[in-house]
Amino acid sequence: MSIHFGVDYYPEHWPKERWETDAKLMQEMGVQVVRMAEFSWFKMEPSEGVFHFEWLEEAVALLDKYGIKSILGTPTAAPPAWIIERNPEIQPIDREGRRRHFGGRHHDCQSNEVYRGHIKRFVTAFSKRFAENPGVIGWQIDNELGNSHYDLCMCNSCKAKFQQWLKIKYGKIETLNDAWGTAFWSQGFNNFSQIGTPLITAVGENPSAMLDWKCFCSDLIVDFAKWQADIIRANCPEHFITHNYMCFDNKVNYYDLGKLLDFVSNDIYPAGHWQKPQAHPDSGLAASHDVVRGYKKQPFWMMEQQSGMSGWEIMGRALEPGQMSAWAMQSVAHGADAVVFFRWRTCAMGTEQYWHGILGHSGNPGRIYNEARQLTHTFSKHMDDFEGTMPHPEVAIVHSFRQNYAFDIQPNHPELCYVEQLQKYHKALYNKKIPVDFVRGMDDLSSYKLVIAPLQYLMTPQLEQHYIDYVANGGHLVLTMRTGVKDATNLCMTDRELPGRLSEICGIEVPEYDCLLETTGGVFYNSREYEAEKWCDIITLGKAKQIAEYTTGFYRQSPAITENSYGNGITWYVGTEPGDDLMADLTDYFLKTCGIEPLGTAAEGVEMMTRENDDSIWLFIINHTNERQVYHLHGMYTLLEGEKEEFLNPYEVQLLIKSKRSRY
Ligand code: GAL
Ligand code: ZN
Repeated sequence: MSIHFGVDYYPEHWPKERWETDAKLMQEMGVQVVRMAEFSWFKMEPSEGVFHFEWLEEAVALLDKYGIKSILGTPTAAPPAWIIERNPEIQPIDREGRRRHFGGRHHDCQSNEVYRGHIKRFVTAFSKRFAENPGVIGWQIDNELGNSHYDLCMCNSCKAKFQQWLKIKYGKIETLNDAWGTAFWSQGFNNFSQIGTPLITAVGENPSAMLDWKCFCSDLIVDFAKWQADIIRANCPEHFITHNYMCFDNKVNYYDLGKLLDFVSNDIYPAGHWQKPQAHPDSGLAASHDVVRGYKKQPFWMMEQQSGMSGWEIMGRALEPGQMSAWAMQSVAHGADAVVFFRWRTCAMGTEQYWHGILGHSGNPGRIYNEARQLTHTFSKHMDDFEGTMPHPEVAIVHSFRQNYAFDIQPNHPELCYVEQLQKYHKALYNKKIPVDFVRGMDDLSSYKLVIAPLQYLMTPQLEQHYIDYVANGGHLVLTMRTGVKDATNLCMTDRELPGRLSEICGIEVPEYDCLLETTGGVFYNSREYEAEKWCDIITLGKAKQIAEYTTGFYRQSPAITENSYGNGITWYVGTEPGDDLMADLTDYFLKTCGIEPLGTAAEGVEMMTRENDDSIWLFIINHTNERQVYHLHGMYTLLEGEKEEFLNPYEVQLLIKSKRSRY
């Protein structure tokens, strides 16, 4: 039997006498795995070279006795005070040139050689000690890499590493000067040693330099993880290595990081705290799971699945009965093979005293515990069957860290956000019960009937050709505003009108555009007027036909959305950001043209998602609302769990199956 449910456990926060009670309660709840120790450096090495792993060994052994395996986290996101006292230089420098100090977490510079030395000593001892431990199955490197490291670190060590990175990339300083467009504002360099980290300027910054800085930071974080992964692999060849990602977060390129890992893991906290609580967090969550599945194109783990209300200084909403289970099974529906809940017991101390867990402060099993037990007892057995399976969507949305960086640097419109735009397209499909993959532009796109590639801002000749070939061979491609604007180094392209060479498959040119600053625009489509947001490309038709036109601006009655047949396929060009209604109706049109059928029909907040192997398709139907719902399916599925087909109680999850061998 495989591992499907677990909790994040901090035995060091509680008296040892309590541990066995915890283990028993966990066993009863159906917990098969815990993650531990990712913030316990001081407890394991209270001074240099003095290791105290006994307490952790004791915890691992006790849990193992109750059939619970352990994943150990390297505690490198919180170096202890004695390291900081000895080497204060490992504390990072922010953009204002200030040092960030001990007292929270992430107070480390990831390029610092001295810090790497401390890590090497500790991780070597740690991994050797637990290599043969029968209770341990794998490792998590650090914790949420990139979290808090965005504008960190600007220290001299990072500066030297950045210069080195640039030297390898550009070879000669003249090449860098050209790639960064340093003729502007007299920014030319005589040599690499003049280049600094992007400390705060008097005003403005160079977008090409910033793009390289972000890519460098990502590479640095991957290198930081590799430093640890290499040690663990050498000492623990039987154990897996993973890392807990943060959905769409862009500080580290998760595709690159994924190459070091056996599988990726993810963390989600949908109930609001960092962000405002949303009416339908489920659609954004679905997109997060889909992109996480795409990072390695394989099933993943949830390493921190929200199990209670969140809170640091202020708190988020309490979870309604059933809500946690619905979110957990949503993770599974989108490809999670295991769900580890954060955290076992609500912590009594420190910054996260109010970040609640399966048990409250009192440690007594209550509503959430009972719900979790019910969940594991209902679904564990089925999860063995579809472990390792993937969905097979007919639609893909293109996702790229570099495009994301470029829009972070210059959003073009103050509210334009790369990830939000991707999520908007995703949401329209999600609401129509259409499974979606996230892919990278250069991936093999041939298995998808419809590829949506929003905001293809940075363009290369290879990517242009790839899209042209996809459409020529019968693909349906959606391109949007701000496509083909820049080259790979973030300089504007000047050889043709927008969207560059892609105008060949779009059948249009975009000689002008309008940024809808503090206003919205209108679009007329299919005998109705809709809202257009943020941007209007002013389009000249070539071979394409117009399918929607602007109703506002000096360019009213000119094309807003176009369609062009090219080779065996079609390219649609969307010159604006469609409002929700237009997005929904336009998506219907795309799907119909491509012959893509939804899994079924149901109200917003009722989700449908599949996983499949060669023989079977599992269909998950999840009611993310606190009302009863009905649904209708377009295939012949058999209910495995749940009360009544085509009917859902509040937050109910139903699991259905269909054989691929039957005719229906
Ligand atoms: C995550 C982090 C955990 C914990 C949790 C609640 O971002 O990985 O360590 O801090 O949030 O704040
Ligand atoms: Zn640094």
